[in-house]
Amino acid sequence: MASNNYPYEIKDVDIPETIVTRNHDEIIRIGPKGYIFPKTFRDMAADIYNMEVKPTDVYVFSYPRSGTTWTQELVWLVVNDLDYETALKIPLTDRYPFLEGPMLFNESTKKKILDRSKENESEAKDLQNVVKSAVELVNEMPSPRFIKTHLPLSLLPPNALEAKMVYVARDPRDAIVSYYHLIKSMKIANFDGDFKQFWIAAVKNYQSWSPYFENVKEAWEKRNHPNLLFLFYEDMRKDLESSVRRVCDFFGKKYSDDQIAKLCDHLTFDKFKNNPSVNYDLMKKIGLMHTDQEFVRKGKTGGWREYFDEEMTAEADKWIQENLRDTDLRFPSMQ
Ligand code: A3P
Repeated sequence: MASNNYPYEIKDVDIPETIVTRNHDEIIRIGPKGYIFPKTFRDMAADIYNMEVKPTDVYVFSYPRSGTTWTQELVWLVVNDLDYETALKIPLTDRYPFLEGPMLFNESTKKKILDRSKENESEAKDLQNVVKSAVELVNEMPSPRFIKTHLPLSLLPPNALEAKMVYVARDPRDAIVSYYHLIKSMKIANFDGDFKQFWIAAVKNYQSWSPYFENVKEAWEKRNHPNLLFLFYEDMRKDLESSVRRVCDFFGKKYSDDQIAKLCDHLTFDKFKNNPSVNYDLMKKIGLMHTDQEFVRKGKTGGWREYFDEEMTAEADKWIQENLRDTDLRFPSMQ
């Protein structure tokens, strides 16, 4: 169903009975790469594709659970002259609208959230913002506008590279383990499968924002574009300072060694986990996330090994090899 203002075909998807996902009959595929989304994305796809891009806009984008939040805080501070005070005061979710975030709520959940916002004045704005069109939120923002998305480049405005874009990629095995925990932690996701079922649905491209490799490769192909910076989660874990310096160079910012050291300290896992401005405590407060789960969870590389049996490890190797065959994309964790 391509239209004048949207170039891609959007198709309903029949999911085989063998695939366990959380929204079985509510899935669509978009365009030649077959990106998968809940049906609710249909209403916003064209608005996002056609939104205005300003050269001062800053995008942080990724496949889910690849270190997006970590990168967002790093980028925001570098661009905003290391203004820790404001970073602590304004939650990251307010500093960066999540472009396709409202697709996570179907009409009935949206209604419940809005009803709750009427009952609870102190949470009203937060509740309304999670369901409000993020394109509208972005349009209301002063420049520079910071935007979070998991959409691949091809589903963003065709001139998105006129903005500054930072993509972060992570070993898909760790990203998918982390994605599984996130889905388990979200009250609205209603996923009662186990990790193996989640993994199979991801590699067979039935989880939102998949196919994983297409999402990453689209950004990788532009990694030498002057307005795109491509980072790996594993590099950040191993040597955060180098990644911080790359981000500073990318945005033309110069900071002293002490300032860089302070920023690295601010971004350490333990500080991050206890920083209410970035750790999504808000999602618990407004009742969308189970209170015993953490958004900033383990922060490790290679943790996937605890979740994969021999058969899954062999299948993952094959899946990765097949998808890396036609590209020079190589993950630091696989060298
Ligand atoms: P784990 O679930 O493996 O711990 P995203 O922000 O894209 O959703 O990514 C979330 C992942 O990044 C989670 O991975 C989270 O713990 C990890 N993460 C967040 N902040 C981090 C930090 N400061 N250092 C290392 N990892 C971090």
